[in-house]
Amino acid sequence: MRPQGKACGRSGRQHGGMDLTRPHITLGIETSCDETSAAVVADGRRVMANVISSQIPLHQRYGGVVPELASRKHVELIVPVIRAALTEAGLALSEIDSIAVTAGPGLIGALLVGVAAAKGLAWALQKPLLAVNHLAGHIAANFLERDEPEYPALCLVVSGGHTDLLLLTAPDRAMLLGRTLDDAAGEAFDKVARALGLPYPGGPAIQAAAAGGDPNAVDLPQARLLGDPFSTSFSGLKTAVLNYLNRERQAGRTVSVADVAASFQRAVVTALVERVEAGIARYQPREVMLAGGVAANSELRSAVRAAAERAGVRFRFPPPRLCTDNAAMIAAAGYRLWRAGRAAPLSLNPSANLPLGIADVVPWSDK
Ligand code: KG4
Ligand code: ZN
Repeated sequence: MRPQGKACGRSGRQHGGMDLTRPHITLGIETSCDETSAAVVADGRRVMANVISSQIPLHQRYGGVVPELASRKHVELIVPVIRAALTEAGLALSEIDSIAVTAGPGLIGALLVGVAAAKGLAWALQKPLLAVNHLAGHIAANFLERDEPEYPALCLVVSGGHTDLLLLTAPDRAMLLGRTLDDAAGEAFDKVARALGLPYPGGPAIQAAAAGGDPNAVDLPQARLLGDPFSTSFSGLKTAVLNYLNRERQAGRTVSVADVAASFQRAVVTALVERVEAGIARYQPREVMLAGGVAANSELRSAVRAAAERAGVRFRFPPPRLCTDNAAMIAAAGYRLWRAGRAAPLSLNPSANLPLGIADVVPWSDK
């Protein structure tokens, strides 16, 4: 299937070097952790293919991601996954207009595989290389198949490595309001799941276990940071769960995994919703949005939705498949870099700790 506008041909109207009369096709590549993914996205918005090859079964037996195994699996899968995405989109490699790749943050060995593949393609095809910050990708998942946001927009990014509350104030501007001081929300889900004997990744496992549990069964602490209503801390909560489990087991009492999972999930969701409510109260955004793997959590979504509704603010979140790591979100963010004329050099080197530059967030809007 070809995107709309193909009839306009390859020699469409040029504007500042950009052909605006036909869709711009971005190939997205994501290998920052344990998903090898390639996607084809038209105009940064329409998903033509989004192939995700998960390594979860490989890492599950170790209870978490083993970096070297992840890199090796990416090396094995990267070409088949890119090929599968092109086939699904019905496009030849020569029809790709730009190549977007996750340049960090993430596991360095894993990032190198995607970046090396993207550079090879960009050089061979003589097309722009777009270096995407993984978090900007998670945020951009909110713009796939949707309209652009209204500003200011409050965005909670909750993933395995980050818990950031951002205020997107304009298409090219954002403020970091708060972040986690220790564990990220997803990391806390993964660690508590492990202690409960649940499989990796912990988030979906805890959500499933919590469905049959009582969220008020275990009394867990809430960390509140004096003078900072927007930042979070989850290490105390995680330790409280571990202490509870040790105490109960030492006393010979049977632990209800469902009750602990439900109580822990409620505590995390309560903490996150409090931060969102503080952000709404302080900045009165037009929209509230969620991003990152933990945004797939149904209790978090309904609690944030309720908070947004109470405040009369629009709420948006990506569908679960676009919340966790995928290349369509990287293509969406990459397209915005391309529109802003921010192609990367072929000397691009990924960075495990790449900070979210303000302009990475939403550098372009067609509003
Ligand atoms: O965004 P992501 O796929 O990778 C990172 O960039 O880190 O997020 C992965 C995290 C994991 O910690 C996983 O346990 C969590 O997202 N996660 C969830 C759910 N699905 C994934 N956490 C809570 N509930 C879920 N349904
Ligand atoms: Zn991610």
